[in-house]
Amino acid sequence: MTNTPDAYCVMGNPVAHSRSPWIHARFAELTGQSVSYDRALVPLDGFADHVREFAARGGKGCNVTVPFKLQAAELATSASERVRLAGAANTLVFGANGIHADNTDGLGIVADITRNAGVPIAGRDVLMLGAGGAAAGALGSLLEQKPRRLVVVNRTHAKAQTLVQQHAELAALHRVELLALDHKSLAGDLNHNFDIIINATASSLSGAEVPAPPSVLRAGSLAYDMMYGPAAQPFLDWARNHGAVARDGLGMLVEQAAESYALWRGIRPPSARVLAELRALLLTEAAH
Ligand code: ATR
Repeated sequence: MTNTPDAYCVMGNPVAHSRSPWIHARFAELTGQSVSYDRALVPLDGFADHVREFAARGGKGCNVTVPFKLQAAELATSASERVRLAGAANTLVFGANGIHADNTDGLGIVADITRNAGVPIAGRDVLMLGAGGAAAGALGSLLEQKPRRLVVVNRTHAKAQTLVQQHAELAALHRVELLALDHKSLAGDLNHNFDIIINATASSLSGAEVPAPPSVLRAGSLAYDMMYGPAAQPFLDWARNHGAVARDGLGMLVEQAAESYALWRGIRPPSARVLAELRALLLTEAAH
């Protein structure tokens, strides 16, 4: 008897660079599950059709990446509170009752900071640089960790204010001081320094400077870039040069995948092991 693997995929445009198929193949091997996971390059105007076709062909669920995360949230028939807050979904689960949307990006960064890096968020002062989709996806999960203070700073200040307003209720529930600051206020007061600084901006992609003054760092602060590879390097260099501990977003990538896998399969894969393997693979690739 042939056993057809349960089919999943990552839908995006572009998607060729995605490491998700490699990560999920390792999760399946290490947990002994019969799963296939492919890349799906989806036309920019064809996301909803593509999802429905994949589900009709027997697909069990998918990850969603740029630029479809907002559409994924809209298309779903049910959604988690995390999706409602972020307005974006990165995980769809196909069930008998429709399509359920979740967002595991925030859970991924929290797991990587607290478990893999061993840095608690509870009671700490956190700075979020950026107020786009990446920042929105993480903010709810960060607040649930009950930091003492969470400050959002963005080039376009109004977007930081909107993001803070959207999360005000959740922050109050967890007794977190949540506020938006503009760049001038951030730079003008040396008391604005933090235990954890998260770069959720795309500034390095355009070769721009790190969008924060070094005064935000304390000795030994954790400076975290949501990106990995060359895109994260300017921020990581800046952080190390000013005495902070720097970490890229590779662990967030693996941990968000692990959260998606757990939603689909009801089983938690050994994510720390897969992260170590992926880091070794990337180092080998970079050396060639
Ligand atoms: P993503 O989904 O990756 O978050 P996005 O929604 O386009 O992408 O958001 C990109 C973020 O990087 C935004 O916070 C953006 O600031 P604006 O809201 O002012 O556009 C930030 N960003 C991009 N380029 C930047 C730069 N050169 N300096 C500072 N911030 C920048």
